[in-house]
Amino acid sequence: MKNETVLFDDTHHKCVMFSLEDEEHAAHSLSVNQFLIIQNNSAVLIDPGSEVIFSDLYEAISRHIDPKQLKYIFFSHQDPDVAGAIAQWSVATSAKLVISQLWVRFMGHYGLMDMDRILGLEDHGAQITFGSDYLRFIPAHFLHSPGNFSLYDSRSKILFSGDIGAAIASPQNLNKRVDDFEEHRPFLEGFHSRYMASNRFCRAWVQCVRRYDVATIAPQHGSLFHGENATRFLEWFENVEGGAEHCDTLYGCEKT
Ligand SMILES: [Fe+2]
Ligand SMILES: [Fe+2]
Repeated sequence: MKNETVLFDDTHHKCVMFSLEDEEHAAHSLSVNQFLIIQNNSAVLIDPGSEVIFSDLYEAISRHIDPKQLKYIFFSHQDPDVAGAIAQWSVATSAKLVISQLWVRFMGHYGLMDMDRILGLEDHGAQITFGSDYLRFIPAHFLHSPGNFSLYDSRSKILFSGDIGAAIASPQNLNKRVDDFEEHRPFLEGFHSRYMASNRFCRAWVQCVRRYDVATIAPQHGSLFHGENATRFLEWFENVEGGAEHCDTLYGCEKT
């Protein structure tokens, strides 16, 4: 299928990436990835995106599982490209909706009626068993959202990193895979220096992530980092300077 890549499949456990976007607004939007993890009869959907792609994504995941088998839908943070269709997903499935506790009170503004469907994550994250393996919600606060998590899948060793690792307009986004980190790096720089809050959070996240055996880093926008490129990304990201480091330039008050 177009816009669909199987990232991992050992017959019991499968991870699929969809890259569906709103074609009418493609020129102004980032390329967006959505992810599905399936193990036997249950599944987790990750960052399903906005209302615009809801029907296409529902149909795409239906080719792999009955959407009624979705056990969890995980939203890394509150942005519309991540959680904009939370109300539609709540009606179309019986999945638990997992998001930072910080954003629970805001989800009604996306039209979500039944707040009891939400599993609000505390700041330190959580671990859930998933079949014979586990999924770990790793804190990624202020990178960029103040209530933000990455998700590590212990079976596939894929880290679903949300907006961390997002690349804008990189030629390597076309094949969704970073082949040369140095060539891809310029397309990471602008996004991370403006959207990430500060280097302190970048370092804290890398420290947490290094406790896990990560084979692939899969961001919500742009290309995936495999093996050596994932290692190179972590080495680069722990030195990223964000909003706090650029505060004087961003505000510019001393010049007026
Ligand atoms: Fe975001
Ligand atoms: Fe995003």
